[in-house]
Amino acid sequence: MRQVVMYEFFINFVPKFATNKLITTNKTMKINAYNFAGKKAIVRVDFNVPLQDGKITDDTRIKGALPTLKLILEKGGSLIIMSHMGKPKGKVKPELSLGQITDAVAAALGTPVKFVADCQKADAEAAALKPGEVLLLENLRYYPEEEGKPVGIDKEDPAYEEAKKAMKASQKEFAKKLASYADCWVMDAFGTAHRKHASTAVIADYFDADNKMLGLLMEKEVQAVDNVLSNIKRPFVAIMGGSKVSSKIGIIENLLGKVDKLILCGGMTYTFAKAHNGEIGQSIVELDKLDVALGVEELAKKNGVELVLGSDCTATNGLDFDTMTVKPGSKIITCPANEIPADLQGVDAGPESQKAFKEAIKGAKTILWNGPAGVFECDDFTAGSRAIGDAIAEATAEGAFSLIGGGDSVACVNKFGLADKVSYISTGGGALLEAIEGKVLPGVAAIKGE
Ligand code: 3PG
Ligand code: MG
Repeated sequence: MRQVVMYEFFINFVPKFATNKLITTNKTMKINAYNFAGKKAIVRVDFNVPLQDGKITDDTRIKGALPTLKLILEKGGSLIIMSHMGKPKGKVKPELSLGQITDAVAAALGTPVKFVADCQKADAEAAALKPGEVLLLENLRYYPEEEGKPVGIDKEDPAYEEAKKAMKASQKEFAKKLASYADCWVMDAFGTAHRKHASTAVIADYFDADNKMLGLLMEKEVQAVDNVLSNIKRPFVAIMGGSKVSSKIGIIENLLGKVDKLILCGGMTYTFAKAHNGEIGQSIVELDKLDVALGVEELAKKNGVELVLGSDCTATNGLDFDTMTVKPGSKIITCPANEIPADLQGVDAGPESQKAFKEAIKGAKTILWNGPAGVFECDDFTAGSRAIGDAIAEATAEGAFSLIGGGDSVACVNKFGLADKVSYISTGGGALLEAIEGKVLPGVAAIKGE
């Protein structure tokens, strides 16, 4: 009897939980089984790397794509690499050109890379490609077709639906063109796998099941998420930072059903303080989300989750966001997060908060960190994020599994030299959070033919 019940349980429920699992059908081509010899592979990577003055400040995403790219070359294939950078919204923006990273990609691959300045005009270059050779296409998002959203027309406009239909049609042509360059498509852009775009999903229609596959990074990332979710060791502590409650509310609510403790830090702190009528000076706040903040507190209480919010902060009137420095002669003080003087802005967690964060992380067995605790890009305001990073490193040394995701937290971990002291660094931000929410990523679904 018990066995029958268990069997029914597996049949009925396990597939729903296993949506992101890779090993689902035998029809799905595996990159390790594919014969790349003499084949041209178009590979979607996420090379949306942070740049300052044209120089890459964190190359985690380039390094992340290397195993797939090198595997294809070693097996006698040639590469057409494609990616987006930033949000040019269908316009050519030189500061978002992938041409800036061609040399870095070539150095990382150890082989020359030829840059093609228009992703829709690479026919000749692709046709001439020989085994071992590499092309890098210009930013896909210079064309609105990549995202597939009509530009320059409001959603409220009566003509919007027509424009959307037209855009969807031209998106197919755009994807078909990209597909025409190659014999197979490899999806390895985990950081963009939550987007249903031309190069991450629509292009799948132009390859049969034997000639499209996930890359090694995708396999690894999805596996890491599955490991955390299928085998949560407790206590499970999540740390969510960043500026807005609104952009994280979905994952926060979801995590409140999974974690034992939730630390909310960064700019969100002040929306919570304001929701309790705190004085937050010039700090970042979402005045229309005060009820959302109170709702989070309610839900945490209901679910028995320990919610840890910053009680104090470092505040200043002199942070220059362009240079990420404090103007000489400015005020920098420590004060309660709900008693910030009118002319100051909270920019980092204060010492009391740092202590509380450390205590909450101590002894954790599963840790998820997304989003910094302060403006860590400025050297004066790294203390909050550093306290979190150090505590995670310590807990990891004591056996916790720690998963760090999101460009900013990854940059923190790298800036503090903690990269090899955490268990897993994801190349995904939004994609990681959506995977943890249990959503099927469109980039994964495209390969599985869903
Ligand atoms: C990211 O950095 O979040 C990914 O590259 C996806 O970019 P997007 O959020 O602009 O789609
Ligand atoms: Mg993003």
